[in-house]
Amino acid sequence: LTPTDFQQRLISWQQTHGRHDLPWQQDPTPYRVLVSEIMLQQTQVATVIPYFERWMASFPTIEALAAASEDEVMSHWQGLGYYSRARNLRKAALYITEECGGQFPDQVETLLKIPGVGRYTAGAIASFAYNTYGPIVDGNVKRLFCRFFGIEGVPGTTQVDKTLWHLAETYTPNQSNRAFAQGLLDMGATVCKPKNPTCDDCSFQPECIAYQSNRVDQLPTPKPK
Ligand code: ADE
Repeated sequence: LTPTDFQQRLISWQQTHGRHDLPWQQDPTPYRVLVSEIMLQQTQVATVIPYFERWMASFPTIEALAAASEDEVMSHWQGLGYYSRARNLRKAALYITEECGGQFPDQVETLLKIPGVGRYTAGAIASFAYNTYGPIVDGNVKRLFCRFFGIEGVPGTTQVDKTLWHLAETYTPNQSNRAFAQGLLDMGATVCKPKNPTCDDCSFQPECIAYQSNRVDQLPTPKPK
């Protein structure tokens, strides 16, 4: 599939089968996208939702977060784990309010300077908040790409990740980025699942290398034990 065909098919799948009612999809400001994406990094959607709602009730803006004490911020993270994420979110709020004149960065390059923001989160903010070009590669995207493109080798290794990011850069559109990025994550989470993927429901089945070569259960290549 050409990048354009891939984009069209994914975006139309997202419109009919993707998720549209997640709390962070409503009013996707850069701040709300940052908070949700950091929460979603190591935590399931269903667990994140109530934490996200409580967080936004207490810290509705980046200024409110920047003004909060570390103890107050940490108490809102209690139970989510990986507490450096919360400390970094507070640092991010201080960085944006103090070093960026309160203007949220809007380019991948400047987003990457925010404490705790790596390549995935920068791409997610560009896509979801600004609806602009922002390649994203997370666990869902790695699995989908390894299968669809028939990528061998263990994701997480430098060489394989380089290939996956290169594909993401090539296949990410320059418009409808919100729907495209949500489509990648939703298809990875609901169709191209780690176990028992529902290939018969998949609009990419005819071109999927893993499906066509009967290797869906062998890709992505598992980590050696
Ligand atoms: N996982 C990571 N980011 C997500 C998002 N924006 N929506 C659903 N699942 C996600």
